[in-house]
Amino acid sequence: MRKVLGVSLLLIVALTSCVHHTEVLSVIPVPLEVGLQRGVFALDEQTQLWVDAPEADKDLLVGCVDSSPLKVAVASERPTRNALFLEVVDAHPQLNSPEGYVLTIQKDGVVAQALSGAGLFYALQTLVQLMDEECNLPLGTIVDCPRFAYRGVMIDVSRHFFGVDFVKKQIDAMAYYKLNHLHLHLTDAAGWRLEIKRYPRLTELAAWRTDTLWKDWWNGGRQYMERGTEGAYGGYYTQDQIREIVEYAREHYITVVPEIEMPSHSEEVLVAYPELSCSHEPYKESDFCVGNEQVFEFLENVLTEVMELFPSPYIHIGGDEASKQSWKSCPRCQARMEAEGLADVDELQSYLIHRIEAFLNAHGRTLLGWDEILDGGLPPNAMVMSWRGTEGGLKAMAMGHRAIMTPGEYCYLDAYQDAPHTQPEAFGGYLPLQKVYAFDPLSDTISEAQRTLLYGLQGNLFAEYIPTEEHMEYMAYPRILALAEVAWSLPANKDYDDFRRRAMKAVDELRGKGYHPFDLRNEVGNRPGADKPLTHLGVGKIVAYVDGSAYYSGYTAGGDTALVDGLRGGWTYGDKRWQGFLGRKGVDVIIDLEYSQPVTSVSADFMQICGPGVFMPAQIIISSSLDGEHFTELKRIDNEVVRDDSVTFTTFGWDGSVETRYIRYQAVRSDFGGFLFVDEVVVE
Ligand code: ACM
Repeated sequence: MRKVLGVSLLLIVALTSCVHHTEVLSVIPVPLEVGLQRGVFALDEQTQLWVDAPEADKDLLVGCVDSSPLKVAVASERPTRNALFLEVVDAHPQLNSPEGYVLTIQKDGVVAQALSGAGLFYALQTLVQLMDEECNLPLGTIVDCPRFAYRGVMIDVSRHFFGVDFVKKQIDAMAYYKLNHLHLHLTDAAGWRLEIKRYPRLTELAAWRTDTLWKDWWNGGRQYMERGTEGAYGGYYTQDQIREIVEYAREHYITVVPEIEMPSHSEEVLVAYPELSCSHEPYKESDFCVGNEQVFEFLENVLTEVMELFPSPYIHIGGDEASKQSWKSCPRCQARMEAEGLADVDELQSYLIHRIEAFLNAHGRTLLGWDEILDGGLPPNAMVMSWRGTEGGLKAMAMGHRAIMTPGEYCYLDAYQDAPHTQPEAFGGYLPLQKVYAFDPLSDTISEAQRTLLYGLQGNLFAEYIPTEEHMEYMAYPRILALAEVAWSLPANKDYDDFRRRAMKAVDELRGKGYHPFDLRNEVGNRPGADKPLTHLGVGKIVAYVDGSAYYSGYTAGGDTALVDGLRGGWTYGDKRWQGFLGRKGVDVIIDLEYSQPVTSVSADFMQICGPGVFMPAQIIISSSLDGEHFTELKRIDNEVVRDDSVTFTTFGWDGSVETRYIRYQAVRSDFGGFLFVDEVVVE
C-alpha cells in the first residue's frame, strides 16, 4: 500500500484547470467529477500494468485487466512511463468511500488511486468505458464515489430457473456498471433452487414441477414432480455451483445475497415435508407452522448450510405476503401464541422472524427481509427491503434500522417497459427507462441522521412472466443501467437526455457482447395524450357521481376532477390517472358543462388486463340533458368482454349533434366482475 503524498509524478493534476464536461463521456454511471483536457493517452503494446495493492486484490485486479480490452501486461518492476498504475492508498483527501477512486490520465500514463481494491476495480470499469476503439483514453482527472453502498439486482430463479453461466454473465454486466449486490430469490412455490444436503426432498421433489411456463403451472393445478420424471421442469444449484457463483461474484467485487423464503411462499417445501405445515398435508398451505419446533429445526438447519455457502453479511429470509390463515385455527400455533403472549397472527410471524434473527446474529449475520417483517414488531438488528413503496424503509429508518429501497413503482423490472401492445406479456404496469431513472430514494423529509441508514437500492427481476434467459436480459437491460446510475451518481449530475444517449450506446455495446437488451432506439413511449394535456369542453367542469357509483379508494386518480382533468391515463392503471370502479354499479357520472351548448362527441377510454382482474365494460350508455334530471339516451353500446392475455385499450363514444348542458356517462361491469378503469371523458 502506498501513501497518497509523494507518489507518482503522474498524479498531480489541478482539477481547477480542467473543463468539466461529462456530456462528452459515455460512462455509466456518470462519475462524480470529471475534468478533461485536450489530448489522449494511447495504450499500446508497450504499456505496462503496475498494481500496488494487498495481495488478494492484486490477483483480482490483474485478472480484471487481463479479461478486459485494456490488455496490458504486468511489469516486473515499477515502470517509469507508459504504464497503468493501480494503487491502494491509506488515505486520500478526495475519497471518503472504499469504493471511490481518483483516476488521472496524462500523456505518459494512467494512475488510479483508491482506498481499497474495490475502488481500483471501479476505476478499471471507468477506464474500459472511456477507451475508444483505437485504445485512446482522454486526458484529465476523474474523482468518483458511490452515493449508496448497496447497489443491487435481484434475480428470481424460482419461477423460472436460470443456470450458472447465465448468472455469471449478469455478474459481468453488473460489475461493469458498478452494481455490487446480487440477490438470488432461491426459493418460492414455483421451485426450490438450492441443494441442501440435509433435506434431499427439496431437490428431489420441490425443485421440479409439471409445466415449463410459470403461468401454465400456476393456473393449471400447481403440481410438483419427482426429479427425472418425464416432462418435469425445474432445476437447482448444487452446492459446488453456488461456490462457483459466489467466487465469481467475489472476483467482481459483488456480494451474493441468498433469499430463503419464510414463513410463506413455501408451498414447495410443504409438499416435500408436509409435517412442517399446520395441516401436515401436502398441497394445503403456503405458510410454515410457527407452532411446530420442527419448523425451527428445519429452518436453522437450512440456514446453517446457506451460511456455509454464502459469505454475505446479510441473509434474506423473505417474510412477505404470508396468508397466516391456517395459524388462526392450528392448535400448535394457538398454543404458541398463548405461551408467548402474542396478541395476533402478525405477532406470531414476528415471533418467527425474531427467533430466526437471533439465530443468524449468533452466527455473525444480519437478517434482511421484505418490509412485512415490520408487521407485529421488527427484530432489533434487522435490515428492511422496502418493496410496497418506500414507506416500510422510511419506517425502519425512523426506528434506527438500515433499509434498502426497491419500491414496485420504480424498481420492479418485470413491468412493461414500453407500450404493452409492442411487448411480450409482462406482469403488468408500465415502467419505462425514464421512470426508473427518475427514482430518488431520499425524500426531503428524511433527517440527516436517517439518511445514513439508507443503505441503497435494488432492481427486482421477478420471473413469473420471464421464462427464458433472453427475455430476462430483455427486461433487465437497459433498465438496470438506470438503477445503477440512481444508486451511484449524485442527483445533481443526473440528466435523462444525456443518460438516454449513453444508454443507447450501451445497448449497442451489450448487444455486441451477446446480451439481449430492449431496443431503446425504437421505444414507442407513453400513451398518446398521457403526457400532454388535451383541451375539450369538459375540462375543469364539475363531475357528479350518481348514487351507488363511487371510485375505489385505492384508485382515485386525484378524485372528483380526474375524469375531466385534461390528461389521459397512460399504459397502466397504476399511474394515478385511471379511475378505478370496483362496485356493482360500475361507472355512472354526470358532467355539468355549466350552460347549454352544442356538443358533437362524447367518449371515454377503458383498459383491460385480465391477470389483476381489470375488464372492459359490458355496456355503455351515453345521455344528454338540459336540466340535469331528464336525460335523453344518445347511444347504447353492448360490448362482448373476452378474457385474453393482452393489455387492451378501447374508446367507447358517441358522435352526433346535440344541444345540452349535462352529459351522463354510464359503464356497466361484465360478468367477470373485477375493476373497471376509465379515464378522460372527452366532450367536444
Ligand atoms: C414481493 O414482491 N412480494 C417482495
